[in-house]
Amino acid sequence: MKKNNILTLMDMKKRGEKISQMTCYDYSTARIFDEAGVNSILVGDSLGMTMQGYEDTLPVTMDEMIVYGRSVGRACKNAFVIVDMPFMSYQASIEQAVMNAGRIMKECSANAVKLEGGKSVCGQIAAMTSCGIPVCAHIGMTPQSVNSFGGFKVQGKGEADARRVLEDALAVEKAGAFMVVLECVPPKLAALITKKTQMITIGIGASAACDGQVLVYQDMMGMSGDFTPKFVKRFADIGEQMKNAVKEYDREVKEGNFPSEENTYPKSDCSDEFLDKLDSMY
Ligand code: KIV
Repeated sequence: MKKNNILTLMDMKKRGEKISQMTCYDYSTARIFDEAGVNSILVGDSLGMTMQGYEDTLPVTMDEMIVYGRSVGRACKNAFVIVDMPFMSYQASIEQAVMNAGRIMKECSANAVKLEGGKSVCGQIAAMTSCGIPVCAHIGMTPQSVNSFGGFKVQGKGEADARRVLEDALAVEKAGAFMVVLECVPPKLAALITKKTQMITIGIGASAACDGQVLVYQDMMGMSGDFTPKFVKRFADIGEQMKNAVKEYDREVKEGNFPSEENTYPKSDCSDEFLDKLDSMY
């Protein structure tokens, strides 16, 4: 299989072929997803919540994104790898944004970076793309702005807000973004944005009208507890399977059934006579 790149993904959009994207944060899981044939992997700053247990994504740092990002980058032979720019790694200045995006590309073997915001980050997007860094934008519900939104809420609901989200999409395209994540955007607005732009639209809570979909892997694998947002579908119950496997392991260890002979190295043992000698010597 050929590694997905910006052109193969654009061709998929042109052919009307849907694009699959999943979040992932570590080497062994990324290998599995890559072998399964997912088109793109996003090392999202959602890792602040899924991997680190924070309430939101704001505490995540550049250094942390680099550690997770390079683990995924090393694993992906086919999937197009996008790494998120964390909160305050790009907002304060264009120069800082370019330096941090460059660091992600160099240190993670990433294929693109993602940043949140519409019109307000177009300067950053234009500067990054002019350095040869492909940019995925992220509009609608942008989790780094959760404090401004007053919670994780659907965006683009009324007429004025729908116009704002569409204008954000057109602005990030003009600035050079090749892809845009639409998060928690109503279906007809998502369809309109997908029609009006050459960018690849990736939806999360934004309907099947988008060119592709992304889900946080712990959500779709049943690993994130009882709360499941409306836009998530559980494709497996890995959390329950893991719990059962650990219970079984715990039981076998306590009963002395694990490890059995097949999990040890009896042929490498010395003779009984020698071991008796060692026993008497020490
Ligand atoms: O951080 C993330 O995982 C994301 C997706 C939810 C799109 O931005």
